[in-house]
Amino acid sequence: MATLAVLGLGNMGSALAHCLLKAGYSVCVWNRTPEKTKSFAKVGAVICASSEDAVAASEFVIVCIKSHKEAIDLVRGLSVSLEGKTICDMSTGDTSDADSLVSFLSEKNADYMLGMINAYPSGIGSSDTTILTVGSAGTWDRYGEVIRSLGGKSAQIGEKPAALAALFAGLFTVRQGFMFGMIYGALVCQKAGVPMQVYADQLPATIKLVNDYYDLFARTVPTEDYDDAEASLKVYALAQEDALKTCVSLNAPADFIRIMHDRTKAAWEDGYGDKQLTSLVKHMTEAC
Ligand SMILES: NC(=O)c1ccc[n+]([C@@H]2O[C@H](COP(=O)([O-])OP(=O)(O)OC[C@H]3O[C@@H](n4cnc5c(N)ncnc54)[C@H](OP(=O)(O)O)[C@@H]3O)[C@@H](O)[C@H]2O)c1
Repeated sequence: MATLAVLGLGNMGSALAHCLLKAGYSVCVWNRTPEKTKSFAKVGAVICASSEDAVAASEFVIVCIKSHKEAIDLVRGLSVSLEGKTICDMSTGDTSDADSLVSFLSEKNADYMLGMINAYPSGIGSSDTTILTVGSAGTWDRYGEVIRSLGGKSAQIGEKPAALAALFAGLFTVRQGFMFGMIYGALVCQKAGVPMQVYADQLPATIKLVNDYYDLFARTVPTEDYDDAEASLKVYALAQEDALKTCVSLNAPADFIRIMHDRTKAAWEDGYGDKQLTSLVKHMTEAC
């Protein structure tokens, strides 16, 4: 079994280290503030006084600190050889920082992995948890099993660092879009005097319809088959127009629904009216 290191023992790093120890790996741990390493001695971790000691003793090094930026500084500051090692940054960050880390590691003849953890620390080790990674060739073959022990549904999605950041942006947009939809919906209902409890009670039925949206998306976007719409794009454009008019007439914020309506109406004007609403992916790609 590979010797592993976990650099960073905050909430997430601690969960990762505990899980790897439970899975039987030999784990070197380091944290900038040494107090956080104390409890790890009792559970069989190798406590390292410096990040260099941890890296020197390990072939696969997981970094889980504040963000990619701090991770780059940490890795750049290491005075030990990184040759032949795989550095796996599980900290979050943007594409440019990920690119800098990857190019620095390739200069040092080290392999890289970047991981996006789709879970809270309490979900680490669960068979349902997903950690998506990108990494240099061969890294998943060597260390995929380690990542799978942290999240049973984990997978490597390619080599490009930008792919992971884009996937994060794409999935986060879905969650935030839903949250902002509830927030804007609350504002228009408030303006009409709908009690927030009544509004909140109606949301579960709407969430069920969101599953239908997902089914439609998964059926049509990958295949680009946007014909035979049960509810066509123009039907959605008209319903959005009604919702927009209601927001405006009640003096509620209308910018969120307006952007949806503008996009849908533009596609209708370009001949997409009878297609599925999801054909907006195609229309907006062409417009980019
Ligand atoms: N918590 C979650 O639910 C969750 C979920 C997915 C992804 N993540 C990602 O996991 C990463 C860690 O999150 P967390 O929840 O563990 O955060 P946290 O509990 O706040 O811990 C932050 C960790 O980063 C270390 N750190 C901060 N700046 C540093 C620096 N300049 N050099 C070295 N170490 C530094 C801290 O060290 P000290 O102890 O010395 O301050 C601590 O170990 C973040 O990128 C976060 O976005 C977290």
